[in-house]
Amino acid sequence: MTALAAPTSAPDPGQGLGKTGIPRHVAIIMDGNGRWAHARALPRIAGHKQGVEAVRRVARAARDIGIDVLTLYAFSSENWRRPAEEVGDLMGLLRLFLKNEVDDLIRENVRLRVIGDYRALSDDLVRMIDTAIVRTADNSGPRLVIALNYGAQAEIAAAARHLAREVEQGSRAADTIDEAAIEGALATRDLPPLDLLIRTSGEQRLSNFLLWQAAYAELAFVDTLWPDFDEATLRGAVADFGRRQRRFGGL
Ligand code: IPE
Ligand code: IPE
Ligand code: MG
Repeated sequence: MTALAAPTSAPDPGQGLGKTGIPRHVAIIMDGNGRWAHARALPRIAGHKQGVEAVRRVARAARDIGIDVLTLYAFSSENWRRPAEEVGDLMGLLRLFLKNEVDDLIRENVRLRVIGDYRALSDDLVRMIDTAIVRTADNSGPRLVIALNYGAQAEIAAAARHLAREVEQGSRAADTIDEAAIEGALATRDLPPLDLLIRTSGEQRLSNFLLWQAAYAELAFVDTLWPDFDEATLRGAVADFGRRQRRFGGL
């Protein structure tokens, strides 16, 4: 009887863990801006403004901690369902962020990336994003990945379309579509595997974020509302991650 071959795509235990136990790739579902504002009898936009401050703070903290890739869920493909005024406010804050932060990112040697269908945003935002990506492309330091108009199911569907097209054109055999091929067609293809996925505000769902990539990520649900999230909260989640035993199906 032939033994079952070990699949080559099985994750290597210990991947992502440097000697220090620091996760290489951390993603955050930044949730709770509205509730933060509501608790202060402020309009929701006030929570989103404080949320941008948290982005600034946490991106810096991640670099200080030694996290190589920080992926932030800023706007989901489902967030268009919000009232037009709130969507407009969020886009306005994104515009401000890009205007104010890119010089700092360059100075700090950060590479900016965007995942999600950001080309559906308004033309000026698309231009600003493209410029920011180009201006930080030669940096060699940590990466900041912003998920904009991102939905994991749409990402996986796009990967399937891409591979199907290759088959259709004759450059790929259908049999070669395995986990690695799909991974290679995702928006995150050139990023290290996701080690730690944090969601703030006490909600315990993924809301269509990095569904494929989260297969073996460690999950952390913290009660802190995103505008209150700071370096200490991040360090706490990273320390907790360092105490976990990742098994990847093995022993
Ligand atoms: C997260 O905060 C920000 C975005 C989804 C853009 P929310 O706006 O979802 O805040 P809550 O969940 O209503 O408190
Ligand atoms: C997820 O938060 C999206 C972002 C953080 C950008 P939501 O607040 O939109 O998620 P749901 O609607 O509570 O699942
Ligand atoms: Mg929310």
